[in-house]
Amino acid sequence: MSYYQDLVKQSQELLNQFQAERKTLNTEQLNIKYLGKKGLFNELAAQIKNLKKNEDKKEFGQILNQLKKDLEKALADSQKQKQEIYQRLDLSLPGIKQKIGHLHPVSQAIEEISQIFERIGFVRGDYPEVDWDHYVFAALNMPANHPARDEWETFFVDQAADPEMGKVVLTTHTSNGQVREMERVKGQLPIRMINISRCYRRQSNNTHTQMFHQFEGLVIDKDINIQHLKGTIDYFAKEFFGPKTKSRIRPFHFKFTEPSFEVDFSCQICGGTGFIKNENNKKVNCRFCKSGWHEVGGAGMVHPNVLKAGGIDSKKYRGFAFGWGVERSYTLKQGLNLDDIRLFYSAERDFLEQF
Ligand code: PHE
Repeated sequence: MSYYQDLVKQSQELLNQFQAERKTLNTEQLNIKYLGKKGLFNELAAQIKNLKKNEDKKEFGQILNQLKKDLEKALADSQKQKQEIYQRLDLSLPGIKQKIGHLHPVSQAIEEISQIFERIGFVRGDYPEVDWDHYVFAALNMPANHPARDEWETFFVDQAADPEMGKVVLTTHTSNGQVREMERVKGQLPIRMINISRCYRRQSNNTHTQMFHQFEGLVIDKDINIQHLKGTIDYFAKEFFGPKTKSRIRPFHFKFTEPSFEVDFSCQICGGTGFIKNENNKKVNCRFCKSGWHEVGGAGMVHPNVLKAGGIDSKKYRGFAFGWGVERSYTLKQGLNLDDIRLFYSAERDFLEQF
């Protein structure tokens, strides 16, 4: 490319560059940068003296004249455009309200549950969510191949089993924290721990998600009995759901507690009666609960074999444990008859903003 051709090319590029910079620079800045005394146009124009041929000088002079006109016009255009935008701007209009986020409802529930238990001396523990079979099942009195394990639809991690600890699984319940906590305190009792954590099961329908949260309480001390368990459950019911809430325990079966119970709370909608009054003031069945009660989870006195697995002398110490779902408790608290619990994990802003 000859020197002349190069200058012509530069002059074309200058206009393009100007157009591109109109978005970022204001008119004054553009004026100085392109048309100012030491601006890019003058810099280019000064090179005319380096051209040897007279006819090149003449032609480049014409190109420069045109370029100057083009630049001036572009500058005037951009000034006009900005003025128009300004005129269209109605400063009396109300501003656009910024959306402010908040904690996810499940996080809110976790926070509240922690605080309720911390008020009566429980300490929040933190245990793996991907754990050995040993802590999730075997140490909880469910040896390999025990049919009780089938209740927990387990996800297995594709990793070689350890001869002592067994396979690696995604925790199906927060009960894996029980023996882990007993081992952690190394005989320094009592234990008053609360474990709130993610759990995973092979299940997905409108009342179950593959990932959900549970909270688990474990208390181990001398002279612990069912009264303490019942009292703790009732305390939680009244703190979390409201002072009128009642709780009850019904006999059940878990391998890691003996005796074992299922835990029910009275319905928030009908006050535990099972009936509500319809618009004609007639008594009808409560559609939310049917019987006045909601089953929320399990509980029981820690099985001696579990104490043993955690290195605790079951002749000296006793304990109770309980555990149930955070999402389930939360929806009952709100009287939310949620058709689909999966909405919690759908990232649907319209849904989440209601909480
Ligand atoms: N881990 C049990 C479940 O997931 C609940 C439970 C916890 C039962 C503690 C008894 C004691 O269903």
